[in-house]
Amino acid sequence: MKAKPEILLVEDDTNIASGLQKVMRANGYEVTTLSRGDTGLEQAIAQAFDVVITDLRLPGLDGLELVRRLHQVKPKLPIILITAHGSTEVAIEATKWGAFDYVPKPFEVEELLDLIAKALESSRLMSEPVDMGEAVPGRTAIIGNSRIMQGIYKEIGRVAATSVTVLIRGDTGTGKELIARAIYQHSNRAAAPFIAINCAAIPETLLESELFGHERGAFTGADARRIGRFEQANGGTIFLDEIGDMDANLQAKLLRVLQDKTIQRVGGRENIAVDVRIIAATHRDLEAAIRERLFREDLFYRLSVVTIKLPPLQQRQEDIPDMVRYFLRRYGPEAGVASPAITPEAIAHLQSQDWPGNVRELENTVRKALLTARDYAISLEHVKGVLARARAPAAVSAQSHAAYVTALMDQVERGEVHNAFSKMLADLEPELYAQAIQRARGNITKAAQWLGVTRLKVREKLKEFGLSHKREPEAL
Ligand SMILES: Nc1ncnc2c1ncn2[C@@H]1O[C@H](COP(=O)(O)OP(=O)(O)OP(=O)(O)O)[C@@H](O)[C@H]1O
Ligand SMILES: [Mg+2]
Repeated sequence: MKAKPEILLVEDDTNIASGLQKVMRANGYEVTTLSRGDTGLEQAIAQAFDVVITDLRLPGLDGLELVRRLHQVKPKLPIILITAHGSTEVAIEATKWGAFDYVPKPFEVEELLDLIAKALESSRLMSEPVDMGEAVPGRTAIIGNSRIMQGIYKEIGRVAATSVTVLIRGDTGTGKELIARAIYQHSNRAAAPFIAINCAAIPETLLESELFGHERGAFTGADARRIGRFEQANGGTIFLDEIGDMDANLQAKLLRVLQDKTIQRVGGRENIAVDVRIIAATHRDLEAAIRERLFREDLFYRLSVVTIKLPPLQQRQEDIPDMVRYFLRRYGPEAGVASPAITPEAIAHLQSQDWPGNVRELENTVRKALLTARDYAISLEHVKGVLARARAPAAVSAQSHAAYVTALMDQVERGEVHNAFSKMLADLEPELYAQAIQRARGNITKAAQWLGVTRLKVREKLKEFGLSHKREPEAL
């Protein structure tokens, strides 16, 4: 990855251009500014930018035409359109032609920065190559030569060339997203976009319009038409992550896409044909969800034409040493350790752990070990220390809330924490679940009621935090 993402800004209003340029540079981006559409297009084709931001009305070539032509040449390059008041309809055309998204003028700078971050993430998912089974320095790889992983590489090879729907299953941190990207990259749609949507991260009410778009006036606040991701990804691949969290209404609509290959925008009547390959993933026990009527059985069968199951890391322990060495090389530089070494005893200890958080937990552990590593090899004691600290119950217990928040905000200011809210949740959650399940004496239903979450959620969290519970009184 490049040190700084490079952005091309095509904007003829010099005031706006210099203002935006300043803000983007302050946020760590390399920015090139051009004022004409035609030179903008040339430059965008010639140079490897990570994101292009363009105004609509431009001398030489307008923004819309720029989007259309650039998308033909570089379909994976995210383009953000800045539109003046009253030209949202035009921006909609642009999303159909492949623009990543648009901001209507006037906009808050934060809004644009948000979009840039999203565009960069989307472009990373599409463009960062995923190698299978081998670690090439500086590249992302799926590590593991165990029989299990060999089988998975074979399956990826088998399904990639087709457009068949694939369901990837496995516990949290087992590598589902990585596998989804590998399938996409080895598919005959690799040159077309790959759009990832996390169904659990978007509120239900917004997810439908995110996926399928909406017509103007479809609901309060829908003051313009919006093109959904399915239309936008036409010809490409959509990755529906956390599909087990999708609500029933939307499940029915997704089923339609799979059956008829058409969508309807929210508030629209037109059936719009879409050619999109769907890759879905979930860590949920879908069979249990079907029994609880939380997941549609018919959708399940449509989705699971091909299922790739990623077993917990514990079942492929022989891959752990290679993974550890891979993560050491990968994260050594950021920790300031050029060629990190580790003792065989330390590796053996890592290999003997349960890893309820699977590869992600192993990865985080190696990263933490590196941050406190010295010049000599990482030892068994060092690794034990890191594991003990990571598994200690809530860091909050000894401190007052104010002191905790102060420490957290200090970290935020130093740039060590980027999302204070989720950090706080992550710090507190394990203790909350531990106490709830303990007080409920292992009764998951009771714990779920107390916490105001679903039973599936409780089960999942207990597993994630490595908490045990007595036999549940009823089948789940
Ligand atoms: N076999 C592997 N080799 C190398 N890295 C891996 C492997 N599997 C997973 N990882 C890394 O572990 C982390 C978690 O993987 P990923 O995000 O794909 O998991 P996931 O199954 O989607 O988890 P979740 O259900 O929590 O979303 C990522 O940083 C990923 O790169
Ligand atoms: Mg994931």
